[in-house]
Amino acid sequence: MFASLAPFCTWLAATPVSHFIQLTGWIIPTLQTIHILAIAAVFSSAVLVDLRLWRLFERDLPVKAVAQRFLPLVWPVLLVLLATGALLIVGEPRRSLLNTTFYIKMVLLACAIAVTAGLQWSLAIDPQFWDRDASRRFAARCAATLTLLIWGCIIFAGRWIAYTEVG
Ligand code: HEM
Repeated sequence: MFASLAPFCTWLAATPVSHFIQLTGWIIPTLQTIHILAIAAVFSSAVLVDLRLWRLFERDLPVKAVAQRFLPLVWPVLLVLLATGALLIVGEPRRSLLNTTFYIKMVLLACAIAVTAGLQWSLAIDPQFWDRDASRRFAARCAATLTLLIWGCIIFAGRWIAYTEVG
């Protein structure tokens, strides 16, 4: 798979946009800074909703109220992550596109998106979904733990790309 992507990476790295990113010293640190600030926003939102699912934060409020406050932020911020991540790839295509860790991160991201969308959907069809009885509350804690693990693994994989770079 990587053999067929190598010519694409060579072509992408030779485009004027990629040259501009490579030769303008401040662009990559700026993109990385925006990427990191966006990660902080997404992760904080997930943590606050998960703390409510664990009943450690705003336990007097329904899950739906807490989710409605924090989860909608995730979607526009994911677009910022997509835009900054895509520009980082354009600047150094081989670093990510020829790196298995990058694809692991994308699969994990798809899982995080599915779990977050599933949470929003469950609350849209039934606002009491996670509060209804003890078994639902236990499931809520499991879901909260799972989402935090997934987001944590995405952050780890994002950092790990730099240490699994191909030549
Ligand atoms: C939406 C699509 C995304 C794309 C295309 C993308 C792409 C990238 C790229 C290309 C890098 C640079 C890797 C390197 O050269 O070392 C990076 C770094 C990173 N990404 Fe993403 N990313 C995305 C979303 C996310 C998300 C959702 C998270 C976590 C919540 C995340 C966490 C990180 C972290 C922690 C780094 C390392 C930052 C640094 O050390 O400067 N990324 N990402």
